[in-house]
Amino acid sequence: MVEFKGVSQRFGQQWALHDVSFALNKGEFLFLTGHSGAGKTTLLRLLYGALRLDLGRATVAGFDLTKLKRSQIPELRRRVSVVFQDFKILPNLTAYDNVALALKVRGLPRSQSDRRVRGILRAMGLEDRAYIKSERLSGGEQQRVAIARSMVVNPKLILADEPTGNLDADLTDHLMDIFRQFYTYGTTVIMATHSREVLERVPEARILHLEQGRIVDTASPPTEIELYGGLP
Ligand SMILES: Nc1ncnc2c1ncn2[C@@H]1O[C@H](COP(=O)(O)OP(=O)(O)OP(=O)(O)O)[C@@H](O)[C@H]1O
Ligand SMILES: [Mg+2]
Repeated sequence: MVEFKGVSQRFGQQWALHDVSFALNKGEFLFLTGHSGAGKTTLLRLLYGALRLDLGRATVAGFDLTKLKRSQIPELRRRVSVVFQDFKILPNLTAYDNVALALKVRGLPRSQSDRRVRGILRAMGLEDRAYIKSERLSGGEQQRVAIARSMVVNPKLILADEPTGNLDADLTDHLMDIFRQFYTYGTTVIMATHSREVLERVPEARILHLEQGRIVDTASPPTEIELYGGLP
């Protein structure tokens, strides 16, 4: 599903990723951990074509990122769905319409999308909030709308950047159950997180630990210091 070989990425003089190599099979769950600034978001952005690959080789969901043309990005994003750190939902649309839009732009008529939209809103505990304008939802509710929107399209690969950042413990549990459900049905998941609780929710997941843009040994689980060190 994903293969990186010697990938390096820089912003100006600074290398955000340095010689990163890893492979991920279809249906695997991978956590990205590491201090703030370690390169987690940069790695995820490469995977959905938001950054052009500087150096090295990479493939994702059948696309060669080295040769990715701008015109192929919509096709890539049909297979790869993203849950952003700063979730971007449309504030003046309802939760329902935000989620339905993801299917509409992929050409699915409303008659076919309605059941899926309502199903995912129910799974996210948003059925009572479905027809309220999103700007009037709480931060955690808005985040769940964003997650519902990413998941409703049944992507092959879900990329999630700190998806539980705004959620309390109960909602985090609930959300991780939903990610696990997708993963159980064969969706590949890559999730960046600082949270030990989140890591512990998927004990069988692989962990890729980044330090200053490099992969460090991932044989043993990261210590508390490695997870939280450097953060306020
Ligand atoms: N658009 C950009 N322009 C310049 N530098 C950038 C840009 N995006 C990221 N960087 C730099 O690249 C490095 C890696 O950033 P990245 O956002 O990938 O870290 P991160 O691991 O996601 O951190 P966090 O846990 O805080 O989200 C950082 O030093 C950051 O300052
Ligand atoms: Mg980040």
